[in-house]
Amino acid sequence: MLTKEQQDQYQRDGYIVLPNFKTLEEIAVLRARAAQIVDQFDPNAASGIFTTKEQEQRSDDYFLGSDNTIRCFFEEEAFGADGLLKQDKALSINKIGHAMHDLDPVFRAFTADPKLVAVARDLGLEQVQVWQSMYIFKQPGIGGEVRWHQDATYFDTTPVSVTTFWFALEDATLDNGCMWAEPGGHRGPMRERFIRNGDEIGMEKLAAMPWPDDSTAVPLVCKAGSLVCFHGLLPHYSAPNRSPVSRHAYTLHATDGRTEYSPQNWIQRDAAFPVRGFL
Ligand code: FE2
Repeated sequence: MLTKEQQDQYQRDGYIVLPNFKTLEEIAVLRARAAQIVDQFDPNAASGIFTTKEQEQRSDDYFLGSDNTIRCFFEEEAFGADGLLKQDKALSINKIGHAMHDLDPVFRAFTADPKLVAVARDLGLEQVQVWQSMYIFKQPGIGGEVRWHQDATYFDTTPVSVTTFWFALEDATLDNGCMWAEPGGHRGPMRERFIRNGDEIGMEKLAAMPWPDDSTAVPLVCKAGSLVCFHGLLPHYSAPNRSPVSRHAYTLHATDGRTEYSPQNWIQRDAAFPVRGFL
């Protein structure tokens, strides 16, 4: 699936962009399904913006309960001072997560792509285990910033194996908040680890190494249909979206079943709902 050059590039930079991986038809079907999920979502059943300690716990519970279900999350800037949505619900959702790839037939079909198995194998993943899916809206005007992080923070395995499969469902541009990455930064250490103990979550500091300076980052500008694959240790971020155009993306996080998956990772599966590969 990948040329030797592409594989070398991935090893060197920690990421690779594959244009035209998905067709516009496949994208249209996924977008329509995401819109439907949002339409059926009752905001009153979800967490809004919480400030007090008790409300924070409610917000954590809502997040943790999305590990093996399908839930919608608001953009932080979705609400006005009066606590009401500033714009239509469809333009207020930050993301849908985190198990559509296994629970929703339309998302399942998009995920069960034999080409992904081949790409993953070329990137070194032999026994793919897909733990998480996210549909990210990056809404016009209020699309939230995501600061520097490494995805391995959330999917710790020994040795590190988590790989991100990021599908551009719209053109990702400098204006609408494309991702930025530090080429080669995946050779640095894992800085933080996100830990779950029951219904408690926390961030553990692992390495003192600072995040890269924004000036060293490279924008991952790409067209709708592109697949961006990146290494779990690659530092990346995305800027807020202040443009009038959204930047939809679909992401999958997969590890290699030959590695040891930390029992403290926030998403766990069991025999009743086993983790599986792309197919
Ligand atoms: Fe990320």
